[in-house]
Amino acid sequence: MKTIGVLTSGGDAQGMNAAVRAVVRTCVAENITVMGIREGYKGLIEGNIQELTARDVCDILGRGGTFLRSARCPEFKTEEKIQEAVHTCKEFGIEGIVVIGGDGSFRGARDLTLHGIPCVAMPGTIDNDIVCSDYTIGFDTAVNICIDLIDKLRDTCNSHNRCSVVQIMGKNAGWVTLEAGIAAGATSIIVPEVEFDFQRDIVDRIARGKRYGKNHFIVLVSEGLFFDVPSNKNYKYCVENGIANIADFAKRVEQETGVESREAILGHVQRGGAPSAKDRVIATEMGNYCVNLLKNGISNRVVVMKETDIIDLDILEALKMEKPFDFKKYEMANMINI
Ligand code: ADP
Ligand code: F6P
Repeated sequence: MKTIGVLTSGGDAQGMNAAVRAVVRTCVAENITVMGIREGYKGLIEGNIQELTARDVCDILGRGGTFLRSARCPEFKTEEKIQEAVHTCKEFGIEGIVVIGGDGSFRGARDLTLHGIPCVAMPGTIDNDIVCSDYTIGFDTAVNICIDLIDKLRDTCNSHNRCSVVQIMGKNAGWVTLEAGIAAGATSIIVPEVEFDFQRDIVDRIARGKRYGKNHFIVLVSEGLFFDVPSNKNYKYCVENGIANIADFAKRVEQETGVESREAILGHVQRGGAPSAKDRVIATEMGNYCVNLLKNGISNRVVVMKETDIIDLDILEALKMEKPFDFKKYEMANMINI
């Protein structure tokens, strides 16, 4: 393979830059031309593409965001736009593509592959929700940002005997909330994967904390709790109880517990800032792995993490896999965070 393209797609994640750098530097070392495709699949359709040199990726390893920029491009799901993307690849001599993104981006890679453009994809999303991978780059950094912010909220809650009801990102998955909840010692961790009981999981836990002399509380709520999707086990409860958003949730906490409560939405700050060492290292390893696959004529693969190993899987098989929520870890958190 003489020319490889690289793109970042979907929600950005810390470590995407490190991955692009690894792709570029590996290609340069292997005498492969590397083309940077800007703004994900949108740039592939529009031909927003430039050759990248080793120099172009200097100083991006430790930066958040993605210097290639990212986009959501719903029209890429149409046959017409995929054909345009295939045409662009031919025009620029792109023989294979490394896709860095979430599960939606993986589906785009699968479609391109089925249209004759060999793709290799690697997981970049803070959500850690890709079914075929135990880890997604950006997750560690995002969790660390959450715990830093929750620690700050804890300070002010402590001063005012309050409860912070904090909305955490993660799309339809509660992984970020669970991990942040363990690391920040949240009183309650509410995720879409586990049906919750307001009395048992919030009111009783706060009451028990009070008995132990606790004066402030942290309740973490995944944003996915408010999304109308089949995997959200709590959507019906929220609708039936008039809880449309985190402000309603916080009001209910205050009413039921008598503890003054304030809502906070951590939001997109979770996706910014310098990637952690873990995200930089895994992104670098995966970026290098992707190019090695394409270089050796292997494509239609996803490069993922299984336990501590980086491996590759068939892209079609990988998308059919399942990733059960870590209920054991969830229970452990509830036992310890009293
Ligand atoms: P993420 O990759 O972070 O999950 P999205 O779900 O927004 O983010 O997907 C990113 C992009 O991947 C979409 O904007 C679209 O271009 C492409 N994509 C998403 N879903 C599909 C699909 N089912 N088929 C083909 N392409 C898709
Ligand atoms: O997939 C990453 C993510 O940050 C999710 O956690 C969140 O639901 C979504 O993207 C937000 O998307 P947007 O950047 O379009 O607001």
